[in-house]
Amino acid sequence: MSSGKGSTADFVVVANRLPVDLERGKDGEIIAKRSPGGLVSALEPFLRSQQGAWVGWPGLTEDSKLDPFEEDGLLLHPVMLGAQDVEDYYEGFSNSTLWPLYHDVVMPPIFDRAWWDAYVRVNQKFAEATAAVVAEGGTVWIQDYQLQLVPKLLRELRPDVRIGFFLHIPFPPIELFMQLPWRTEIIQGLLGADLVGFHRPGGAQNFLWLARRLGGVEPMTTAVGVRTKQGLVQHGDRSVKVGAFPISIDSQQFDTLARSRDTELRAKEIREELGNPKRIMLGVDRLDYTKGIELRLQAIRELLAEGRIDPEDTVMVQLATPSRERVEHYKQMREDIEREVGRINGEFGKIGHPAVHYLHQSVSKQELVAFYTAADVMVVNPVRDGMNLVCKEYVACRHDLGGALVLSEMAGAAAELTSAFLVNPHDLEGVKDAIEAALIVNPAEGRRRMRALRRQVLTHDVDRWARSFLEALHAS
Ligand code: ADP
Ligand code: G6P
Repeated sequence: MSSGKGSTADFVVVANRLPVDLERGKDGEIIAKRSPGGLVSALEPFLRSQQGAWVGWPGLTEDSKLDPFEEDGLLLHPVMLGAQDVEDYYEGFSNSTLWPLYHDVVMPPIFDRAWWDAYVRVNQKFAEATAAVVAEGGTVWIQDYQLQLVPKLLRELRPDVRIGFFLHIPFPPIELFMQLPWRTEIIQGLLGADLVGFHRPGGAQNFLWLARRLGGVEPMTTAVGVRTKQGLVQHGDRSVKVGAFPISIDSQQFDTLARSRDTELRAKEIREELGNPKRIMLGVDRLDYTKGIELRLQAIRELLAEGRIDPEDTVMVQLATPSRERVEHYKQMREDIEREVGRINGEFGKIGHPAVHYLHQSVSKQELVAFYTAADVMVVNPVRDGMNLVCKEYVACRHDLGGALVLSEMAGAAAELTSAFLVNPHDLEGVKDAIEAALIVNPAEGRRRMRALRRQVLTHDVDRWARSFLEALHAS
């Protein structure tokens, strides 16, 4: 890390998190890790190819100031959050109110006025930090649900800059959004942008409706057209564009990594370490209740119990990145998942041969690619997911056209990855059938499906996503 103090940038990304997550070691020294989640996975490679700066929280719970620093060519501007901010703005309003509300209320959202006050205060802090970093007439790209007030707040401070906003999670159905006591403020906040982007046309459509109802805007084009995927509204003396931009991954990077000799060797080694089973099933997720991990495990337990999976020749590997560990819903879910893993292994494992291998850990990208390469069936069954990048990463790694993907219809990616084994994640029998079908698919059919999936993922990468968003932002 080197200091990059005092400079301004023409292009600035603002996200709750910086791409590095800092921690204090035992002696007070700073330890840097890669931040979790799809937002960082997607944006980091793109921003590295630009001369840009990134404004965000470095993960430390500290009020003290941290100077801007350079990490591997990226200029990072830390926004510091104290303990109260982390509790009320991050764990509270962002992850106990907005996250469950926007994911179809799979858990009940909590509406707390003190959390809302913290959300306003911290969004103001981010707006001020960004205003100090962006150059005259520059471009600011604000990311995700934690910062929905920043477009309006930043515009008040810096009317000279062009402002884009992208939501990485689903935008909810209107009747759910209308539950939010601060719904008008959120819509007004987003309307501060020149372009508001979502993964799916449905999200954009919902937002357009709410903007008319709560934002006092005039529609200029009424719908998000299937062909144009964009709508336009008049907000005071400005027009605001609204559109769908499905995010993706650095497909080429995964493809190249998967083809390397090291990956091949490591994938073989993983298979050996697992006892050379005939079939490996894989789950890779942040430990989040939206990901359907509990139902996945239940499906596997029932398939084992019904004799449709033989624990002698088939194993499951579940990699789960620790996430939001102080939030109550997450603590409870972790306990439930770990109990279920114990139950399956108690019933179907043998000494030295568990039926489910569970790691509550983050692994390196190289290691992850080796797991993708080794896995015969990838199970991705979120109950709701904005996009889900894991399934795209798996596909990008299968240059051998091997492997099969079980994918939830409720993930944004399902609209593109139609050759996967698509499932309704609420239908336990359906999930079991899809896992079984993927395990026994005949090789020609498996290759046909994987070829179609790869065509989509390799031609629609994150670079294309970012360029199409930024072109739309500058075209107004
Ligand atoms: P979300 O953004 O909700 O976490 P995504 O599927 O869009 O879900 O993105 C998750 C990202 O985190 C992917 O890039 C994936 O590779 C990474 N990831 C998930 N689990 C692990 C893990 N155990 N170790 C390393 N990376 C992981
Ligand atoms: C999802 C969200 C991101 C978030 C990530 C990790 O991808 O869309 O905004 O950064 O999860 O969650 P965390 O709470 O650890 O930042």
